[in-house]
Amino acid sequence: MPNDITSRIRTLSEQFFPEMVRLRRTIHEHPELAFEEVRTAALVAETLEQLGIEVKRGVAKTGVLATVKGKQGGKIVALRSDMDALPIQEATGLPFASKNPGKMHACGHDSHTAIGLGAAMILNELRKEFRGEVRFLFQPSEERNPGGAPFMIEDGALDGVSEIYGLHVLSQADAGTVGFCAGEMMASADELYITIKGKSGHGARPQHTVDPIVTAAQVILGLQTLVSRNLDPFSHGVITIGSIHAGFAPNIIPNEVKLVGTLRSMSREWRAFAHTRIKEIVNGICGSAGAEADIHIDLGYPVLVNGERETALAEASARELFGADHVFKAERLMGAEDFAYYLEKVPGTFYRLGIRNESEGITADIHNDHFTIDESAMKAGAAMQAYLAVQSLNRD
Ligand code: NI
Repeated sequence: MPNDITSRIRTLSEQFFPEMVRLRRTIHEHPELAFEEVRTAALVAETLEQLGIEVKRGVAKTGVLATVKGKQGGKIVALRSDMDALPIQEATGLPFASKNPGKMHACGHDSHTAIGLGAAMILNELRKEFRGEVRFLFQPSEERNPGGAPFMIEDGALDGVSEIYGLHVLSQADAGTVGFCAGEMMASADELYITIKGKSGHGARPQHTVDPIVTAAQVILGLQTLVSRNLDPFSHGVITIGSIHAGFAPNIIPNEVKLVGTLRSMSREWRAFAHTRIKEIVNGICGSAGAEADIHIDLGYPVLVNGERETALAEASARELFGADHVFKAERLMGAEDFAYYLEKVPGTFYRLGIRNESEGITADIHNDHFTIDESAMKAGAAMQAYLAVQSLNRD
């Protein structure tokens, strides 16, 4: 009876809410940066072990895997939480504010971890209600490239997994609401490092030089055509040169110019095309000027593509749990998220959890030093993750 299980999950999420709050505040008070999540991982592992849940520590250095087994046989569904904090000095003044100077849970990963533990508590009570098993991924380093996800995958986190689900808090949506977006939801983010090498000389005798500054100016403008001329106007992409360094005097043409930028795309195919095209544009312009170019593209997170089927399941599950008025259409973002690596391997969906509460003044955006959440949202998050796992395991 689907209605029976939703009401049980709602009741259990209420029951475990005080524990989720306690865990979230403990983690919030002791934020740890990427791949340093030692204390957090220990808390996660101990909390799960106290529930009698099987745990594997030291995955991807500071990650934790846990398994809750249902009835015999069946698939494995993964639920993911990220655990790392940001290098920000907290200014919320909360009683459980960060005790680690210059470090803060300003992206809500403290609550993602508490929600993952809450979902484990709920599913541990519901073992008889599903076939197969739920694997919990508590991963390190979402914030810092190359991300914890590829290392989790390398360490076997997705072995045997048929679907994966994850969420992220959203300051623009009210607490208790959840948002979904099928297909491409978040961008790939690659970093560009370009060095243009010319030949230095006197600024008054440019005919004896190869001026890398004039060449760089053309390269920057040329790169803009990648989006304006090489991208379907109905698609999305950005190229930004955010740093340019060269020269030191008014009358000297320098030897080289260094450009640093970011490339964002919403399609796996266009991303690959853009890498090739960047090299063509830069090498073409430099070649015509007699300059040489060193081009290094530092690969960041891939495009995050949500499965149609899994997103539909998640949206339907949210309606059943909370009612249609608590479900919204999540916007696409040009930000990046390493959950994208999991979705390259197995289908699933990444969705938004509202945490805003204007009457309590909880409106600050993520990565802001005043960021905080309406903790009641964690009930919805844990209920969603738990119900998704049950739904996914019990279907077909
Ligand atoms: Ni985040």
